[in-house]
Amino acid sequence: MKTPTPIAEIAGTGHFLPDNVVTNDDLAKRLDTSDEWIRTRTGIRERRIAPDGMHAAHLGSEAAKQAMEEAGVEPGEVDILIVSTATPDRWLPSTACDIQAILGCDNAVAFDVMAACTGHIYGLSMAEGYIAAGRAEVALVVAAEKMSAIVDWTDRTTAVLFGDGGGAAVLRPSNGSGRGIVSSHLQSDGNLAELLYRPGGGAIEPISQSMLDNGRHLLHMHGREIFKNAVRSMAEACDIAMKKAGFTSSDIDLLVPHQANIRIIEATAKYAGLPMEKVFVNVEKYGNMSSATVPIAFHEARMEGLIGEGSNVLTVAFGAGLTWGAMTIRM
Ligand code: UT7
Repeated sequence: MKTPTPIAEIAGTGHFLPDNVVTNDDLAKRLDTSDEWIRTRTGIRERRIAPDGMHAAHLGSEAAKQAMEEAGVEPGEVDILIVSTATPDRWLPSTACDIQAILGCDNAVAFDVMAACTGHIYGLSMAEGYIAAGRAEVALVVAAEKMSAIVDWTDRTTAVLFGDGGGAAVLRPSNGSGRGIVSSHLQSDGNLAELLYRPGGGAIEPISQSMLDNGRHLLHMHGREIFKNAVRSMAEACDIAMKKAGFTSSDIDLLVPHQANIRIIEATAKYAGLPMEKVFVNVEKYGNMSSATVPIAFHEARMEGLIGEGSNVLTVAFGAGLTWGAMTIRM
């Protein structure tokens, strides 16, 4: 297949991580777990946890400032502001509107996208669509996740996996540069929603004392089932995104996968035909930050010089919904 001409390019990226580091040993002091179990089953050594008073809008807006600075974009130039979050600061209004107010992006249309860990890839794809339609010149795509606010800290099967952080990217028209999003493949399967969800607190199970007492407002996950689906879906998405781009694995310079578990990352790389030297991994430092994971990893890989001009990057994610997706990007 002929490689499509990119329409929207990444003009800047940024990330923000709270300073507070919580190690596996710290968690083992209050949960029946161990550094050894967490490291060998997940690859995670530590995660960042935001302090009280630091919420998703803060995590996201700090990352956004960096991305806008690199792109040379003033707040008033942003046409569309898309925020992915599984941990909105309030049920109403959207966290995107809060971030808009913090940044002063007064001319932007701002809204949240709810696609869990795949949210940033969904957001990039939506921004690309706005640019392709000629409805935006500058798109700001932010991921903001305070997972520590929705994790059940008494449940060792989920509490050890997650962390907090924000990531961002600015998209602009490629204007024939040859850089930008080359292909993407997004998918969802709502039939498997209850493998990873927060059962209570919405319209089905409104807030009540018994709902709170039973922790039904917190994250519930069937880890093994999610694991199997993640491996299968991410492998398939990588394959389809590469095919749509006219790429084979030898065209890919770096795979930037969602970082939920090192074993999922290794399986995805293997299916995609990529050696681990071509895979960016930071799960040991941050754990799973839902949709903020991909843009944080992407930004770090750029800062470490692993993504440079002309690099072909494959990024892939999987999460609640279920949702999953992959994207190829030429920088
Ligand atoms: O972003 C997308 C969302 N999330 C994911 O992608 C996560 C996908 N799932 C996973 O990464 C893995 O399934 C987990 C890391 C969550 C669990 O690993 P596993 O190898 O699938 O373990 P398991 O759930 O089969 O549990 C094995 C044992 C169980 O004990 P028994 O029943 O064998 O006695 C668990 O109770 O490990 C136990 N266990 C723990 N032990 C110590 C579960 N969590 C812990 C823990 N510390 N934190």
